[in-house]
Amino acid sequence: MKFLITSFLTICLLTLCHIRKSPAKKSNHSRVVDGHSGLIQDFPYMVGIMLHPSHKTVWCCGSIIAKHWVLTAGHCIVVNNSETGKLQPLTYYVLKTVTARGNTTFISGKAQDFVDHLVIKFLYHDRLTIVEGEVIENDIGLLRVKQSFDSLYEKVINLEEQSHGLVQEGVQAGWGWIFPNIPVGADELRYHHVYILSREKCILAAMGLRFDVRNKLCVSSFESTACKGDSGSPLVVKNLQVGIMSAIFEGCPPGRLNVYVEVAPYVDWIKGSMRERSHRSKE
Ligand SMILES: *[C@@H]1O[C@H](CO)[C@@H](O)[C@H](O)[C@H]1NC(C)=O
Ligand SMILES: *[C@@H]1O[C@H](CO)[C@@H](O)[C@H](O)[C@H]1NC(C)=O
Ligand SMILES: *[C@@H]1O[C@H](CO)[C@@H](O)[C@H](O)[C@H]1NC(C)=O
Repeated sequence: MKFLITSFLTICLLTLCHIRKSPAKKSNHSRVVDGHSGLIQDFPYMVGIMLHPSHKTVWCCGSIIAKHWVLTAGHCIVVNNSETGKLQPLTYYVLKTVTARGNTTFISGKAQDFVDHLVIKFLYHDRLTIVEGEVIENDIGLLRVKQSFDSLYEKVINLEEQSHGLVQEGVQAGWGWIFPNIPVGADELRYHHVYILSREKCILAAMGLRFDVRNKLCVSSFESTACKGDSGSPLVVKNLQVGIMSAIFEGCPPGRLNVYVEVAPYVDWIKGSMRERSHRSKE
């Protein structure tokens, strides 16, 4: 049992990777994802990734991108093996209990409307890199689920296939932590509006930080931020998914940079992986 608990801790450290340690500032901004309460009707592509169906809070979030597939962050589904220093799939530790929970506003299931979809395959990018929980590249993953997404409030979101250039406003929803220092996710879905910075501003914002802006979107919002547990949630612009929540500052200070994986450069990887695995599972 001890082994299992330690492994859980190891995974916890990775969940929502920090781009840099920054001391929590004294302010009234203790509420994160400080936007608004959302309804699943308005975000029917959202699923919570539950490590176990009995859990009341999410491990990560994801989006429904096909009848049997969820898109999420790569760091949500790997662990750093402390002996080898290499990444390995989460399944190694958490066997056959992970579900993608959809159709519900309240992730704890108190409204009794949730539908759990057992995850039967975890895929992540071959070149996913996580160094000391801070530097992260190719932070993208796919989950194949057993039961298809057919509920009333389970709908596919299409992916943006063109790389974006302009400053745009987007929306991100999730069940991540509401208070930076209380490790419990929100029960009710929350969302906030964010601005995607231009490439130039993103490069400036990344100066002095240990991350490379390629294939990433820098996002900021004035008062709100994503926090732990929001990892993997989709960033949506005009009904298309443009990004995947990947990294934040330690302590989730509102108004600071949030980093998303840009979806467009990975569309071929996503489609290829889904095709390959769908064929294989028919064999
Ligand atoms: C923080 O909140 C308190 C109580 O709500 C308020 O009196 C104070 O002005 C706020 N401080 C800042 C910096 O917003
Ligand atoms: C795993 O963790 C070790 C120790 O913190 C670190 O040196 C190594 O870079 C990590 N491996 C990966 C692939 O992130
Ligand atoms: C999904 O949620 C709706 C609204 O709460 C509910 O009516 C429905 O029974 C749920 N389940 C499915 C499978 O649609």
